[in-house]
Amino acid sequence: MLIHASAPARVNIIGEHTDYNGGLVLPTNTAIFTRVMASPREDRVLRVRSSTVDDTQSFTLDDLRPGETSTWIEYVKGVAAGLQKADIALRGAELLIDSDIPLGAGLSSSASLELSVAKALLGISGESISDRDLALLCQQAERSYAGVQCGIMDQYSLACAQYGNALLLDCRSLQTQQVQLPTDIAFILTDSGVRHSLTDGEYNNRSEECATAVALLAESLPGVKLLRDLRLADLEARKATLNETLYRRCRHVVTEIQRVQDTFDALEDNDLQEVGSLLNACHESLRDDYAVSCAELDELVECANSSDLIFGSRMVGAGFGGCVLSVCRKDDAVAAAANIQARYAAVSGSRPWQHLVTPAHPARVENE
Ligand code: GLA
Repeated sequence: MLIHASAPARVNIIGEHTDYNGGLVLPTNTAIFTRVMASPREDRVLRVRSSTVDDTQSFTLDDLRPGETSTWIEYVKGVAAGLQKADIALRGAELLIDSDIPLGAGLSSSASLELSVAKALLGISGESISDRDLALLCQQAERSYAGVQCGIMDQYSLACAQYGNALLLDCRSLQTQQVQLPTDIAFILTDSGVRHSLTDGEYNNRSEECATAVALLAESLPGVKLLRDLRLADLEARKATLNETLYRRCRHVVTEIQRVQDTFDALEDNDLQEVGSLLNACHESLRDDYAVSCAELDELVECANSSDLIFGSRMVGAGFGGCVLSVCRKDDAVAAAANIQARYAAVSGSRPWQHLVTPAHPARVENE
């Protein structure tokens, strides 16, 4: 028996750093993949080879606990542990993992690894669970085994966004709506070439800052359990309760949740100009209020927006490096991408990786 499983990359159209605040997000998936090949073993060992990072690791399914350092294998272990905790009877297997998703580029390479491994392990064990439970289990794997206090957006998008759709996800209720994108819209990804590491603490810092702000605000606003519950007018009225940094973190989250709703409306109206303006406003908020951008990303956004063909651009994912997402008309996409590439190459000295967002199936076993 040989199982082939895959998971795409997610591209968050808008709604950055809102998921762990119970807010709205609007991601879609794109056709770059993590692929896992799996064959069964007679014992209880998982032997896992990643050709992406050129490393092989093994562990037994009977003794699973988080390791001391959060390397790639922790994501695999976390998924196996989560499946077993959900009473899935796993069997030993040989796994070969390969990925064409740039790592640490804001395209959820970690969640894609989790989802593709989970699908492969389920496939080889002849088991299945719901997409919702799978997403939650993979999120938990990342939190417990890789130490990243991530939200639910990436895993939910990869498990649930249907082919070619965006997914409007309410990260508190987990209610979803499949969103058909306008037929003449195109999204271009351009990699700044700068890399972040989510495990380096900045990401967890942001989520702690949000929790601290909620605790302070809840003293006078008991209904605020998450920043999702905060209205902009209430934030402005309580500005003195918070220091400048916490106030800005809150302002980003509250305005960003509104931008998700506004982008959803603009997509429905086929108003690409407005989608572009919202992407630009999102970038400014991430840069100035949430402080998760960096000089190279700001420069890349400027290069992209200096092309007349582009309606707007922003950094994607957690930040501190990775890709910029730009929106334009489908007919202009090839010329617009070339413009961005030439302009960024001129300032950065090297030609950036680019990708045109392309419909993709959610995580799945290919040969079931
Ligand atoms: C990472 C996390 C997500 C989300 C984004 C920022 O991708 O895994 O849960 O918080 O950052 O929007």
